[in-house]
Amino acid sequence: MSIHADQTDFHLSNPFMSLVLSLHSMVDGSVTPLMRYMGARLPTGDFHTQPLDDHEQQGSFDLPDTLLPFACPTGGHGDNRPTQLTLLGGDGNSCTRLSYRSHAVYAGRKSLAGLPATYVEAPEEAETLEFLLVDELRNAEVRLRYTLFAHRAALAVSLEIANKGQEPLILTEAASLCLSLPGPYEMIHLYGAWGRERWVERTPPMHGERAIGSKRGASSHEHNPFVCLVRPDTTEFSGEAWGINLVYSGSFTLRVHQDAYDQTRLVGGLACDGFRWTLSPGESFQTPEAVLVYSDRGLNGMSQSFQSLYRERLCRGLWRDRERPVLLNNWEATYFDFNEEKLLGIAKAAKALGVELFVLDDGWFGRRDSDNCSLGDWTPDLRKLPGGLSSLSRKLHELGLMFGLWFEPEMISPDSDLYRLHPDWCLHAPGRHRTTSRNQLILDMSRPQVQDYVTETLSRQLAEGSIDYVKWDMNRNFTEIGSLELEPSRQGELPHRYILGVYRVMEALTARHPQVLFEGCSGGGGRFDPGILYYMPQIWASDNSDAVERLKIQYGTSFPYPPSAISAHVSAIPNHQVRRKTGLDIRGHVAMSGVFGYELDLSAMSLEEQTRVAAQIALYKEIRPIIQHGTFTRLLSPFEGNLCAWQFTGQDHVLVFVFQVLQHAAKLFPSVKLHDLPQGIYQDMDNGLRHDSRFLERVGLTLDFGAAVPAQGDGDFSSRLIRLTRCQE
Ligand code: DGJ
Repeated sequence: MSIHADQTDFHLSNPFMSLVLSLHSMVDGSVTPLMRYMGARLPTGDFHTQPLDDHEQQGSFDLPDTLLPFACPTGGHGDNRPTQLTLLGGDGNSCTRLSYRSHAVYAGRKSLAGLPATYVEAPEEAETLEFLLVDELRNAEVRLRYTLFAHRAALAVSLEIANKGQEPLILTEAASLCLSLPGPYEMIHLYGAWGRERWVERTPPMHGERAIGSKRGASSHEHNPFVCLVRPDTTEFSGEAWGINLVYSGSFTLRVHQDAYDQTRLVGGLACDGFRWTLSPGESFQTPEAVLVYSDRGLNGMSQSFQSLYRERLCRGLWRDRERPVLLNNWEATYFDFNEEKLLGIAKAAKALGVELFVLDDGWFGRRDSDNCSLGDWTPDLRKLPGGLSSLSRKLHELGLMFGLWFEPEMISPDSDLYRLHPDWCLHAPGRHRTTSRNQLILDMSRPQVQDYVTETLSRQLAEGSIDYVKWDMNRNFTEIGSLELEPSRQGELPHRYILGVYRVMEALTARHPQVLFEGCSGGGGRFDPGILYYMPQIWASDNSDAVERLKIQYGTSFPYPPSAISAHVSAIPNHQVRRKTGLDIRGHVAMSGVFGYELDLSAMSLEEQTRVAAQIALYKEIRPIIQHGTFTRLLSPFEGNLCAWQFTGQDHVLVFVFQVLQHAAKLFPSVKLHDLPQGIYQDMDNGLRHDSRFLERVGLTLDFGAAVPAQGDGDFSSRLIRLTRCQE
């Protein structure tokens, strides 16, 4: 890895990629960095970028600001494309002009105050190029940082803006990243809704803007803060891909603009709608980080770079590398209708079958018999748990189970003691109706006293209950976005301050309780993003646990996120979300492809089913290291056909999961080609057959789902797990 800098050119490169920036003199005397190249590695020898034609001298109708590939485009200068930074000064106009002042190159990287970010464990793991850019008229200093990881096809990018003057500055736009690429690109993004999160959509290039985002206060079910630009011929296995993911959990925008000259600009960061941040003299503002991955090995290559980076240098703490426990969650087993005896009955059955962690979901606190009360009152409901949390905890621990607990820390029910005491603690706009959603309001997490209340209350329950795991839920989005904490001119800061407050609480709790495994959740997968992964190494992917629906959800989620982050459960049939009846095998195979658990009453299953569950759990424990730490490859997309397949590659073991949605008569046996196997001979652990890796990649595994003899076939919703071991030559 190296960063070469001469007077005007900067070349960041590692074995996988290069980024080239150059300085350009504008007619007003300012000097601006341009992004000249981002892609496959270039040789590191001497090279010089040529000056760009900016039409300045030619009497052209187009202004330089509408043409140049700025590394950090600013507002107010007639650039018709999305811009990254706009500062208002005392004059009130939006003209922001940054000029290069100096740069620094250093080993390692800086952490981002109060924000989640990727990190290094040793300075030689990354190198950073930091530009100091100055707007003299505004007395603003901007540090634009590019951190290139030494052994990964990944860059981390962010901006820090400092007010060095005597007057306040107003930020109306402060995005994390601008990527400039020549040419048109197709765009892939992950969209959805509750129960249908992170479906993959690929759109053709267009002149103008394609934008995704969230104004909901959470990264949302609707769009994930992820976008990928690809060439038309890019597939899962080959071609170029540029992936961008924001390390952020709040409202965001990602805008892809293609101009009339077919240049593409991607700008991403905090949502700018309504954003207005006052920077007092001496203060700085740090944007969230954007992670940029380049792949010339197709979409799988891109995903693998994101996944290993997140697994190894975004997730933190004891649980980052530990194998995650197989859990049993009582939510769909009991909903709100439980008591200690019922829970222990389920827990005993679970333990006997091999479950390691019992999770008590919603309904254990206040007087919460339905979702219409008690959020905020985090004290055990003694009607249901007469001995409190500590008694249940002790009994579960005596059984040999870990004890996990559900919280929804950011919420408050109007029918709660907390609300009666502090009716002003929720987000609200004075004089406006307080809109409830799922009968609840949102705590104003921008307020330090609210943050402290949440931290102390949860911390106490974690200690008193000897809690081993927390499921951190968040079940509604913003309305009436107002805060009593902020003066009128600062209300535009609230969405970001809310998330900063949430991060502060998450930081405090994870630091105070390092042994606790935290799992993120938001009405299923409504806040599945890298910001949460920094604090919590796994996230509940969706409330939809139907095996067929989960194929698409988990396939899409894997574009940037590792299987070790994707929490997945086997639930009862008929499925509670779509009423579909699928077999235990496919439910098991889908859930085993992530962080595995059950969400049903195991004690109510037949003996035959319990035996199969015990076998599933034993199998998962065997393959868990490969699932959680191996290389994940998507083989067949559920968005494109009746079959879906994916592969996990470990040191000497390969796991291939194949799913067939519907059974058809008179079809040939399908084959599934494996990908990127370490060369060698592989033996099928179930039937003993041996195959050369080249055979497996070029001819593939042929699967018999029984279509040849329909009456004996598997029927709909079938699956296979093929386990291969590399033979010692
Ligand atoms: C939404 C979550 O996604 C579910 O798993 C469950 O915890 C419920 N909330 C409880 O209210």
